[in-house]
Amino acid sequence: RSAKVRFIDQTNLPERYIKVTTDNKSVLWDAIKKLKFRGAPAIGIAGAFGVVLGIQKSKSKNFVSFEKELEKIISYFKTSRPTAINLFWALDRMKKIALENKTDDINYLKHVLLHEAIKIFNEDKHICRRMAQNGSGLIKKGDTILTHCNAGALATADFGTALGVITSAHHDGKKIKVYVDETRPLLQGARLTAWELQKEGVDAILICDNMAASLMAKGKIDKIFVGADRIAKNGDTANKVGTYNLAVLADYHKIPFYVVAPISSFDFSIEDGSKIPIEERSPKEITEIRGKRIAPKGIKVYNPAFDVTPSE
Ligand code: MRU
Repeated sequence: RSAKVRFIDQTNLPERYIKVTTDNKSVLWDAIKKLKFRGAPAIGIAGAFGVVLGIQKSKSKNFVSFEKELEKIISYFKTSRPTAINLFWALDRMKKIALENKTDDINYLKHVLLHEAIKIFNEDKHICRRMAQNGSGLIKKGDTILTHCNAGALATADFGTALGVITSAHHDGKKIKVYVDETRPLLQGARLTAWELQKEGVDAILICDNMAASLMAKGKIDKIFVGADRIAKNGDTANKVGTYNLAVLADYHKIPFYVVAPISSFDFSIEDGSKIPIEERSPKEITEIRGKRIAPKGIKVYNPAFDVTPSE
């Protein structure tokens, strides 16, 4: 029996809740690339299971050829998305566990890799719950919070990072209100965060990204919580493009700004944020909305998916 991965196709949300089941590594690679399966911790988990799908049919009889195949699959998944370090962290962890068990039988090794992917998944669930509990203490009764992109259950194994903190405060009875940035161009806020908060029964209000400044100026935002895709050694943080705008605005208006992230989001190999690779995506994400063109043909486009917020 071959292992299969089942995931929610997030590009269809909120209109349609469709689950995709596959044992094909290319389907999973494509899902990561096209943001069907997205969010930093979630793509780490996807990569780990991608390795399982890629290696399970291996005919290798010894570790030397098995390792070559494994290396190829890991390199393949490393090309899916460049910014979230969680993907590279999980793939390196898969390589490490294989090396640690290199003297074992190949079939047993396949089992070890499956077990490691499941472990990464379960650990993330646990970490999200712990971050949520810790972070909820930062939120006071009646606070109004602003968030950007989607750092919820969809972006992790369960519960979320920044959104986990927010929903946890809600479950703790803190009667909070949450402004949700729509998050252009792909609208993870409008489509995914709004959907998750609504399901949790949180008092959520959707805004366009360019409305955050005036809300802050009017004193309507008490705290800002966001996730992270890669945090450099000095604390500089890459997250969905537009996060930096919010951080500068928060600084100006003296509003506390929190980044909620697990250790797998840290890149201790780079000194600062200038070394973080920033993904540039298709111009179509800006010139079209769900397949409908909104900008003139031939217009030049710049579409970085992330920006870097300096640690200070
Ligand atoms: O391009 P995406 O949708 O994968 O970007 C996701 C983000 O930027 C999230 O804020 C980040 O992964 C938060 S961690 C749960």
